[in-house]
Amino acid sequence: MTRRFVDIATTSSVRAAQLAAGVTRRHREPETQTECDSLTAHERAFIQERDSFYMASVSETGWPYVQHRGGAPGFLKVLNDTTLAFPDYRGNRQYLSVGNLAADDRTMLFLMDYARRARLKIFGRVETVDIQAEPDLAQQVIDPSDEAKFERIFRIRVEAFDWNCPQHITPRFTEADIAHALRHLTDRIANLEAENARLSAELANQTGE
Ligand SMILES: Cc1cc2nc3c(=O)[nH]c(=O)nc-3n(C[C@H](O)[C@H](O)[C@H](O)COP(=O)(O)O)c2cc1C
Repeated sequence: MTRRFVDIATTSSVRAAQLAAGVTRRHREPETQTECDSLTAHERAFIQERDSFYMASVSETGWPYVQHRGGAPGFLKVLNDTTLAFPDYRGNRQYLSVGNLAADDRTMLFLMDYARRARLKIFGRVETVDIQAEPDLAQQVIDPSDEAKFERIFRIRVEAFDWNCPQHITPRFTEADIAHALRHLTDRIANLEAENARLSAELANQTGE
């Protein structure tokens, strides 16, 4: 865990739980305020490969809320080493995340790579940006070939991040992963089918059928 992640995550009740479980290693210096984390090339590459992630928000009544976000790989853009952004699709018109974030801008993004068994957690603060208000940002974030309707852009200032261990992550593969892995087999089958058709035709000619 980075110092900043520990700062945010280790509240007094978390610390009490750690102590109750015998975790005596000191994780936190409450009197020190650490700098926000900067994403390294490793996190930036990981983020830019993702085709989905989960975004948490907190309701005005303190309930946690999580929504899945999906798009083409790389739809969650890394604007710089402390800023991310993605377009908010017009959706079910419940506006739960939008409403929650208007009252409390804090989020956690949860990014999974099931195939490589890796997960990245990001604490951040979300700013809701009007698409017309920032055309340069819209150009960076919205893919013009995407026919979906977007209502706004979420810009996230990264505060801290943490990688978790791969334990208990079952490897899962997308259709594209599987197609890529099987390509030499599907090519071979296609070649064999073509050869089979050619030989069958030759045989039919020879036997006069
Ligand atoms: C037809 C349709 C397609 C959608 N496509 C996507 C999509 O590709 N990616 C995405 O993140 N949200 C998509 N959404 C939006 C989500 O369903 C949801 O409305 C949005 O994430 C906001 O949810 P919330 O109110 O729970 O925060 C789509 C919604 C609809 C109705």
